[in-house]
Amino acid sequence: MSVTAINERFIHELQEKVDIEEVISSHVNLKRRGKTLTGLCPFHNEKTPSFTVYPDTRSFYCFGCGAGGDVITFIRRIENLDYVEAVKSVAQMAGMPMPEDGYDDTLSKKRMRILAANREAARFFNACLTDPKNREAYDYFIKRGLSPNTITKFGLGYAPDDWRQLINYMKSKGYSEQELVFADLAIRSEKNGKTNYYDKYRNRVIFPIIDLRGNVVAFGGRVLDDSKPKYINTGDTLVYKKGSGVFALNFAKNANDNKLILVEGYMDVIALHQAGFGNAVAGLGTAFTPEQANLLSRYAEEVIICYDNDGAGREATKKALNVLGRTGLKLRVVTMSGGKDADEIIRTHGKERFAALLNESANKTEYRILQEREKYNLLTDDGKLKFLLAATQILAECGEIECDIYATRLSNELGVNTESIKAQIKSARSKLRRSDDERRRREQETMLSKSFEDKNNPERQANLRAARAEETLISSLMRNPDFYNKIKDDLSPGDFVTAFNKRVYECLADKLESGLDPELSLFAKDFSPEEMDSVTRMFHISKNLNNTVKECEDCIAVLKEKNAPVVSDVASVSDEEFLELFKKKQNRM
Ligand code: UTP
Ligand code: MN
Repeated sequence: MSVTAINERFIHELQEKVDIEEVISSHVNLKRRGKTLTGLCPFHNEKTPSFTVYPDTRSFYCFGCGAGGDVITFIRRIENLDYVEAVKSVAQMAGMPMPEDGYDDTLSKKRMRILAANREAARFFNACLTDPKNREAYDYFIKRGLSPNTITKFGLGYAPDDWRQLINYMKSKGYSEQELVFADLAIRSEKNGKTNYYDKYRNRVIFPIIDLRGNVVAFGGRVLDDSKPKYINTGDTLVYKKGSGVFALNFAKNANDNKLILVEGYMDVIALHQAGFGNAVAGLGTAFTPEQANLLSRYAEEVIICYDNDGAGREATKKALNVLGRTGLKLRVVTMSGGKDADEIIRTHGKERFAALLNESANKTEYRILQEREKYNLLTDDGKLKFLLAATQILAECGEIECDIYATRLSNELGVNTESIKAQIKSARSKLRRSDDERRRREQETMLSKSFEDKNNPERQANLRAARAEETLISSLMRNPDFYNKIKDDLSPGDFVTAFNKRVYECLADKLESGLDPELSLFAKDFSPEEMDSVTRMFHISKNLNNTVKECEDCIAVLKEKNAPVVSDVASVSDEEFLELFKKKQNRM
């Protein structure tokens, strides 16, 4: 298969044209800090911003998790696309037509094929549901209170109790068994040297999962009784990644009321839509992810969490509050009562009851304080004190106005002077700030430290000295392409000790040989998004180097183990010295 070869000139122009700040801003809430912008990292869970965007080098880097790259890598990751698709997507944002040919889109074609197979399968499942032969399945939905209209609207279906009905149907439509395995609609089994294929979903009612473009990307299948597992779902395929989709957002986004109701189950969403709450959505089984949270924040200003009122539900609420809190969304939490979930409450008490619960929902701070209050006996001084400490800890993360309101409320409730509550909040807040600064410092230290563990370069730890020399060289050349001609005769890829760094150098040398500026985006073609983390890190350490030809020569000497130089060898300074150097450079900026 030919390697993807989108013209480098095109990638360069694309970089020039597209504004990385604007692109990332539509996914992350960014705040300017001098030359850079920071925000909460969309790739890992954090409460304080470590994610940094560098408009000058058109790159991003997270000091918390090490994710980094150029704009194409960012889009590739956040939208779960392959390289060519990410370039297409960025080109579209920049209004640049893609070059006619010269690139390989086999993967895109495969994805299109899976989407087509999913659509065909959804049609098949839906037809089975309404087939009188499968009365039992249809009745299951009716018994659970769904109307025929709702069944049609959500495209619900039924997978017959058979090993091959779907496969046979799909084969008649021109799909191969192998393709059905790619779509995770069929399972391949190997027995006594014989290959067998069978339907993944059997005797289950089917919930198609539809993305925002209207594509059927996955399925959930529920048993008709109490057997286990209750649901099986599509695993990761080329068109679907667990934890990336939100059920019914394709409908809910059109409700246009700036609020979304977040529930746990498929049935809850469907029951809510039928009862007129067209803005209900659900995560899909897994804990709510940052990716899902970002998706919601694009369509709403407020999310009302309505998870089950049991241990698991409360735990899930806490996690969802955390993940959603990072997006800047306003959050409310409903305490469910009168039933275990939305579906049950609506069916036993009617939609008015659910509307009333929505009205009584607590905002995030209220909810968290409420949860704390339940832990203590407020009739004792000890209980009061512990509750107060917990509550002020929560308020330390809030704005002034919120603090004022709650300080007064707490004062009335507990009979403690408002001023002392405020003083307590203030001291909790400064403690929080200190530990924040401390954490940020530690993160930068880790990134720059000698012993930084690089998941992409397993040889690094065992060859630290050489690896640091390699990285210094690569970094310096990325920043000072003019050094290349001065040192290239002394250095060959064969001098590299670690294979990963060698690959980076070869790619870099290739660009420099053809007279290209070594932009980060030129690496995105040859390195996976995960590998780009390491390339980006190298790109950034150049800020802390001497950036002299001498420094490069010293590094080459380290690699050749000739006359290892003494003082100015950056590759051999201790962590402390390295950080000193880093600080000095920072102060100069
Ligand atoms: P629930 O068990 O609350 O399911 O799980 P539910 O949808 O309300 O089902 P009913 O009312 O018993 O029919 C909530 C969600 O968690 C995922 C599904 O997405 C489900 O809708 N889940 C649950 C699974 O993926 N697998 C399971 O085995 C259970
Ligand atoms: Mn349920």
